[in-house]
Amino acid sequence: MLNLTYLGHSAVLLKDGTHEVAIDPFLKDNPLASAKPEDIKAKFIVLTHGHGDHLGDTIEIAKRNDAMVIATFELAGYCGNQGVKNIHQMNTGGSYTFPFGKVKLTVALHSSSTPDGQYVGDPNGLIIEMGGITIYHAGDTALFSDMKLIGEMHAIDVMLVPAGDNFTMGVDEAAKAVEFVKPKIAVPVHYNTFPVIKIDPEEFVKKLPSGIEGKILKPGDSLSL
Ligand code: NI
Ligand code: MN
Repeated sequence: MLNLTYLGHSAVLLKDGTHEVAIDPFLKDNPLASAKPEDIKAKFIVLTHGHGDHLGDTIEIAKRNDAMVIATFELAGYCGNQGVKNIHQMNTGGSYTFPFGKVKLTVALHSSSTPDGQYVGDPNGLIIEMGGITIYHAGDTALFSDMKLIGEMHAIDVMLVPAGDNFTMGVDEAAKAVEFVKPKIAVPVHYNTFPVIKIDPEEFVKKLPSGIEGKILKPGDSLSL
């Protein structure tokens, strides 16, 4: 069993009844966030890349909760340099089993720097196996045909797919990405937080291939999986 709560933008909270994992907790400066940094009790934070709308409040939350930050080598190292005691460095293509489950870093076509201008390695997507459920959080990315390999090698239950255009895929590419990965459920993310990424998520759902359920989550909405 897994409870997935959408916190807004690309931020997601996963709970399996024992462990709590936060992905890309951008809350304080997110006008649509459904939670504040101090609401997050997660002991693990997994990051797709270093941009401010993903790194977000990670340093503050990790320090308060004594949480582990899991990310690619340079980005996790950056968090360590910012005073986070517990980091786990990975790199693209690798997976590792943590107390809550397994994390694999996948390719994402994007860039990755921190708000203070440091480059922090390649950006990633995440495949997280937790509570018997497999989640693919695509991170910020363009469309790429190797997403088909992710669908071939993993039975994805839920795909979180950026659809807001401008910085990532728009609705057409996002729907094609879902076709490549073939998850059971596709959830659009990374839209409407700012005017430049305003889209109609219903358009994304309409473009999905038949047999794949599109779920539009408002910040604060949860899926029980
Ligand atoms: Ni980004
Ligand atoms: Mn972003």
